[in-house]
Amino acid sequence: MGHVKQGFVVLVILTSLVFIIAYVYDFSLMPVTHTLTWFNIAKQTKLYNVSEELSGKKNVWNFLINQTIQTTTTVENPIASVSTEPKSILQYIAHPSNYHFILDEPDKCSQWDPFLVFMVPVAAHQVEARNAIRSTWGNESSVQGKAVLTLFLVGLTGGPEAQQKLEEESRQHRDLVQSNFVDSYFNLTIKTMVIMDWLATCCSQANFSMKVDSDMYINVENLMSLLLAPNTPRENYITGYLMWDRPVVRRKNSKWYVPKELYPEPKYPTYVLGMGYVFSNDLPPKIVEASEAIKPFNMEDAYVGACLKWLGINPSGPPNPSQFRTYIKDPKSQDLSKVITAIAGSPEKVVKFWLNVKGHEQINHDSKNKDEQD
Ligand SMILES: *[C@@H]1O[C@H](CO)[C@@H](O)[C@H](O)[C@H]1NC(C)=O
Ligand SMILES: *[C@@H]1O[C@H](CO)[C@@H](O)[C@H](O)[C@H]1NC(C)=O
Ligand SMILES: *[C@@H]1O[C@H](CO)[C@@H](O)[C@H](O)[C@H]1NC(C)=O
Ligand SMILES: *[C@@H]1O[C@H](CO)[C@@H](O)[C@H](O)[C@H]1NC(C)=O
Ligand SMILES: *[C@@H]1O[C@H](CO)[C@@H](O)[C@H](O)[C@H]1NC(C)=O
Repeated sequence: MGHVKQGFVVLVILTSLVFIIAYVYDFSLMPVTHTLTWFNIAKQTKLYNVSEELSGKKNVWNFLINQTIQTTTTVENPIASVSTEPKSILQYIAHPSNYHFILDEPDKCSQWDPFLVFMVPVAAHQVEARNAIRSTWGNESSVQGKAVLTLFLVGLTGGPEAQQKLEEESRQHRDLVQSNFVDSYFNLTIKTMVIMDWLATCCSQANFSMKVDSDMYINVENLMSLLLAPNTPRENYITGYLMWDRPVVRRKNSKWYVPKELYPEPKYPTYVLGMGYVFSNDLPPKIVEASEAIKPFNMEDAYVGACLKWLGINPSGPPNPSQFRTYIKDPKSQDLSKVITAIAGSPEKVVKFWLNVKGHEQINHDSKNKDEQD
């Protein structure tokens, strides 16, 4: 009896230790499957490093939080409360109606009539990332007989010279949508909401859309098979790499830090990881509507999760969760030919992953033809 008790105490201590370690190491982005190891977390940080990284993040935070607090104070002021209740500055900032498009492709969807639209948020200067996608999965304009469209969403550029370059690129490719917000990591929620707004206003005819990061490999064929499957819902549907029961990161030096002032609850509602989530195209106008009621915070994917919760829509787990992958160690063409998403991490790797799969398909095809001849 004595050592049963002892064993129990040891078990409790061990369990507590595991929890403490998990907490310290920022468990919040530990994905649900085994694809990400402790080491990869450090790598994952690089994912967002791409020049959208903010310097002096703390000052930015102070500034924004101070603004919210000030507006809240005005509400308490008896004179101010006579007039309509002022929205918080942050809410004002995140709602897409506060922005306008500098570059746009308003007729693209009516001309193309796509079944599926990829919307890729990217910084204006990341032309290599765009070119990698244009020459690979973004160039697949018809898959299983369905039209597919890929567009890039950028914010403001650094100056007139960069703007001119961007406009040239836009004339050449006709796949850029630019909105007038300051492009930064903090502002990714604005970017996502502008994407939702664009889909709602310029592309309501599409059946499905996907928000996908610019360093991703996408297997469009497999995604199309998922979307065309008879039991895939056509409405109120969103799927990808599911994140549930995730604690909000409160450590100020973390990339994923969200202050209590912006999001007071300790956990996020279930959401779909921002690297790539796919949704039925009835959702964008609903999410835009929800965003008027939901105070914005800087985790774009969790914010979409909060909007969905407000709407009473649950993200769906994909039929085969192993198809929504984050990092794949040593990705072989066999692995990539089964997935829907994988983090490539750089423009070169996007091309490499894609060629891997295409080359493999070609070889399979050739040997099949050879078998038929034999
Ligand atoms: C990440 O940012 C740091 C400076 O903030 C820079 O030195 C480093 O090269 C960046 N890494 C990548 C992969 O962009
Ligand atoms: C925000 O407010 C705090 C205290 O109210 C102040 O110390 C800080 O300097 C303010 N930051 C900015 C950027 O205004
Ligand atoms: C897209 O594919 C077509 C042929 O399918 C090819 O001619 C074109 O060069 C490709 N575009 C890019 C940017 O690679
Ligand atoms: C976010 O965008 C808004 C609107 O362009 C801008 O005023 C604000 O400074 C940006 N915030 C950051 C942290 O970049
Ligand atoms: C796509 O949506 C249109 C209506 O917008 C519908 O008529 C069509 O059947 C849908 N296509 C598929 C394959 O579900």
